[in-house]
Amino acid sequence: MRVVLGIRHGHDAAASLVINGQIVADVAEERLTRKKNDGSFPENAIRYCLKSAGITSRDLDAVVVPTASISETVRTFFPGGTIPGIEKRGLKRRLRNSINSYISTIEEKIELPVYYETFPVTKECKLIPVHHHLAHASSAYYTSGLFNQKTLVVVMDGIGDGCSTSLWCGERNHLTLLSTLDSTSSLAWFYAAATEALGWRHGSDEWKTMGLAPYGTPRAGALHGYYPEFQDGNVMVRHNFGEPGRFPDHGCNHYHLTDATPLQKKVEELGREHFAAEVQRVVEEQAGKLIYPWLKKIQTRNLCCAGGFFLNVKFNQKVWYSGNVDIHWVYPNPGDAGLAAGAALYGYFSHNSEKPSEKLTSMYLGPSYDNEDIRRIIDERKLRYTYHEDITDITAGMLADNKIIAWFQGRMESGPRALGNRSILMSPLKAENKDIINACVKYREAFRPFTPSMIHEVSDTYLLDAREESFMVTSFTVKEGIKERIPAVVHVDNTARPQMVKRESNPKYYDLIKKFGDITGEYVLLNTSFNIKGEPIICNPREAIRCFFDTGLDALVLGDYLLTKPGCCDGS
Ligand SMILES: [Fe+2]
Repeated sequence: MRVVLGIRHGHDAAASLVINGQIVADVAEERLTRKKNDGSFPENAIRYCLKSAGITSRDLDAVVVPTASISETVRTFFPGGTIPGIEKRGLKRRLRNSINSYISTIEEKIELPVYYETFPVTKECKLIPVHHHLAHASSAYYTSGLFNQKTLVVVMDGIGDGCSTSLWCGERNHLTLLSTLDSTSSLAWFYAAATEALGWRHGSDEWKTMGLAPYGTPRAGALHGYYPEFQDGNVMVRHNFGEPGRFPDHGCNHYHLTDATPLQKKVEELGREHFAAEVQRVVEEQAGKLIYPWLKKIQTRNLCCAGGFFLNVKFNQKVWYSGNVDIHWVYPNPGDAGLAAGAALYGYFSHNSEKPSEKLTSMYLGPSYDNEDIRRIIDERKLRYTYHEDITDITAGMLADNKIIAWFQGRMESGPRALGNRSILMSPLKAENKDIINACVKYREAFRPFTPSMIHEVSDTYLLDAREESFMVTSFTVKEGIKERIPAVVHVDNTARPQMVKRESNPKYYDLIKKFGDITGEYVLLNTSFNIKGEPIICNPREAIRCFFDTGLDALVLGDYLLTKPGCCDGS
């Protein structure tokens, strides 16, 4: 088995293509349809993955889906494939699979319009289901580069195929299940219910709760009774969250937990920021009580993590500073959009266990547009622009001059973070720049922090006990005096969630930061995703142009072309 497609069908739909054990393409459907958290069948994402690799669906050896069974939808979109028999994994498992298979057979037959394209595969192509949590675990383990070391792999999310939490031992390129917990142990659901109580979206806006938390003071015990409790790696007190409610909204869902109603009263009682602070304190304490004992039990100091819970960079920072781990790897797309890659990696390595899995070094896995594409698009729109042999020179100067620049280069990032290919950039030197970007471009809440992108050689200058971190999966405490030097990218609690940039991973972005540093003395840029609040990150030049003219951006850099506005930069 060589060519494996993973697809996530559900909220945050996505597709990912693995060839010879490497992720070669990966994109969320939302980036191609512009519907945030799009839960439609990821037909656009699949089409992109195949096209970018120069293959057709007939070249696929397997299609792997992170669900308990292959649905009628998957069979319809991939006609001709073979569904392997149920593997012998114990009676309970077999029974569950049988029931799920039965349910999938009675699913309503799908009749696609004649103009709808499907993805015909050969009969040798296997359609393989993999458990939601095993797909998450695979995304973390098979990208960690730890194939020859014993590793604890932890998955925590709201709920997936009946699990909220699973713990695995990764060893010799294989994952062995240690423990699973159901929804009554879901710390992610507690965080989601609290987020809903604060008036934000469950499963989407948890980072707002995390951003607000440092402004408050936690009050231990104030939320007792609303969350599961752990001791020595086991759940001691379960919490019944009930069935989540779901409200479909233009292809994506709004979720609801009944706890959100009484928790709303707690928000009023404690105050918003103090409520958020206590929620954050609780999950840091309880997740630590769950995870750390397992490191001792299986005698390892290596930890890999996936599942939406690990988007919590403050908890990830706690883990790193706890002294319990030597290597901490969080898959950079830990939410459900990352299941597509996890499913594909599982499909590949479960059939090629002898092949060492390699550490993931790049998340630039999405669509790309070269200078020729860009020039055609801006010419068609009759826009004024200039071409620059070395675009980093003029851009670094404008950034040093405190302009807000949209920076569009190369392949779009996979995952929730803009890593310097679809980014809005500004100088981090002035505290007010945070408010300027929020007011003029992002239109988002003032308390949310911005990322510092720094050349990796200077990370020890700015951060306490830094480790190599290319994908913004954890925050660090900044060293003394740093907040005064780069105030726009240091949070109220003296932390920052950095991207360390190596020249070999993104030469143009590295050179831009370096040149900005040569002018200003700080080798750091403020980096935020190229989008406005509530919208997916920009994918193509047309969207970039639209966003440029609809916001207060000073300049737009598309490849080696520069567009400016009258009165800004060198615009006229
Ligand atoms: Fe999940």
